Amino acid sequence: MTITTEQHHRALPAGFLRGFATAAYQIEGAHDQDGRGPSVWDVALKDKENGDVACNSYNMIEEDIALLKSLGANVFRFSISWPRIVPKGGRNDPIEPRGIAHYSKLIDRLLEEGITPFVTLFHWDIPHPLQQRYDGFRAKGEGREELFLDWDRYVRVCFEAFGDRVKHWITHNEPVIFTYCHFAFLDDFKVDDKWTVGKNLLLTHARAVDMYRKEFQRADTTIGITLQAEWVEPIDDSQEAKDAAQRGMDVSIGWFADPIYLGKPNATVEKLAPDAYDFTEEQWAMLRGSSDFFGINHYSTQMATGKIIDDPPFSATMFGSIEMTQEPGGVPLGHRGHEGHPYTVPWGFYKLLKYIHATWTNAGVSYVGKDLPTYVTENGYAGQGERGFALEDKLNDTHRVAYFESYLAAMVRAVQEGVPVEGYMAWSLLDNLEWVSGYDPCFGVTVVDREGGTFKRTPKSSALYIKRFFDEAVASK
Ligand code: NOJ
Repeated sequence: MTITTEQHHRALPAGFLRGFATAAYQIEGAHDQDGRGPSVWDVALKDKENGDVACNSYNMIEEDIALLKSLGANVFRFSISWPRIVPKGGRNDPIEPRGIAHYSKLIDRLLEEGITPFVTLFHWDIPHPLQQRYDGFRAKGEGREELFLDWDRYVRVCFEAFGDRVKHWITHNEPVIFTYCHFAFLDDFKVDDKWTVGKNLLLTHARAVDMYRKEFQRADTTIGITLQAEWVEPIDDSQEAKDAAQRGMDVSIGWFADPIYLGKPNATVEKLAPDAYDFTEEQWAMLRGSSDFFGINHYSTQMATGKIIDDPPFSATMFGSIEMTQEPGGVPLGHRGHEGHPYTVPWGFYKLLKYIHATWTNAGVSYVGKDLPTYVTENGYAGQGERGFALEDKLNDTHRVAYFESYLAAMVRAVQEGVPVEGYMAWSLLDNLEWVSGYDPCFGVTVVDREGGTFKRTPKSSALYIKRFFDEAVASK
C-alpha cells in the first residue's frame, strides 16, 4: 500500500507532541504485585475478562518505551493507578513506596529517551475500599467531604513524588463516560446519580488544579482535564435537528466545559438538573479557568434526528436523551468500525476542533481571556472481530490506517485555519482491555501476544502510518 503524507509537509509546528495514549487498568496487569490494592474494576470484572494481566505493561517498561521510540513518539499518555499509590485509598492509609518507585522509574526512563510524560491522575480506577466506605464519586454530604480529603491526599502524593519531572497533568478522564461506568460496578446506580458524580468530578478536578497551581506549578508546566468529545451533527436543516444537536453537545461536553472554560453553568444542563451546579462561591472561584488546555478524546460523529427520546437508555442521557443515528442520513459516512464508534467521519473531527476553539478556548471567550491549546488525548478506531484474526491480518489494518489518515488530515486542516492543537495521542498504543467489553474490540496500533503469553508487541500498519505522518508533518526547529 502506498501512503502519501507529503501534502501535510511540515504543516504542524515544531515541538508538536505526537504519541500514544493508555490507561493503567487497561494495560498494566500485575494486579497483585507490589502491594497494589483492589479498584472497583477488580471487583466488578472478577469473573469476566479483566485487567489482572492485561498487556503486562507494569513489567514491560523497557519494551513499551522501545516501541514508543520506534514509532517516533515524543509524548506518552498514561495514568497513575490510585490503588498502587495508596492501596486502601484513604488519607490516613499507608502510601505504597513500590507503587511510587514504579511510576518514578517509568517517568525517568521516558525522559531519558526524550519522551514527555502526559499523566492522568484518575482514569476511573478508584480504590474499592473508598467505594464501600462512602460511595466513591457518588458520595454526598459528609461522604463528599471525605472523598475530597482522600482525593487531595492522593493527588498531593503524586505531585510531590513526580511533579519535579512531569510537566503535563490531566486530572480526570472523560467525566461524562465515567458516570456511565458506574453501572458496571454499582447495581443500584440510577440515571440521575450521574449529576452527583459529575459534581464531585468537577469539584475534585478544581481542587487538584488549585493545589497544583498554589504549590507545584512551574512556568513551563500545565494541568487540565480531558473530556469525551464526540461531534453531534443535525441530520438535516430542520430547527428540531439543529436544536437537538446543540442539546447533545451541551450535555455531553458543555456540562463540564462551560464551568471550567467559561466560568458559568451550562444552561441546557441546568434546565435538566437544577442542582447540577449548586456550588458555593468559593467552589465556583476554583472552577473558573481551571484548565490550562482543552483535552479531548474523540472517536466519531452522531447524527441528531431532532427527536427527544421518552424513555432513554442511559447512554442516550449522556447526550441529553436526543435520538441519534449513525446511519447515513443524506450525509455520506465512511466505513463501519466496531459497534460503539461505528463510522469514520473525519469532517466531524474538523468541525469539533473548530467548535471547541470558537466556543471555549479562544481569547475572546475563554474565562482567562487568552487562547488555550487543545490536546487530542485520544483518537482511534476499533475494528470488529479483529481479535480473532490471524496475526498477518491484524497487522494489515487498512481500515484503521484509513481512519488515521483522514482524521489526521482533518486535524491539520483545523490547525492551518488557526485552531491551536498542540498535541495528538492516538488511542491506543496497545491492544488492551476495553473495560466491560473485554479484549475485543481492539483499539491498539500494536498487537500484543496475550494468548501465547509472551506479550510480544508487534506494530500494525496503522502504527507505522502514524509515524510516517508525523515525521513528515511536524516542522523541524
Ligand atoms: C475512552 C476512554 O478514556 C478509554 O479508557 C477507552 O478505552 C477508549 N475511550 C475507547 O473506548
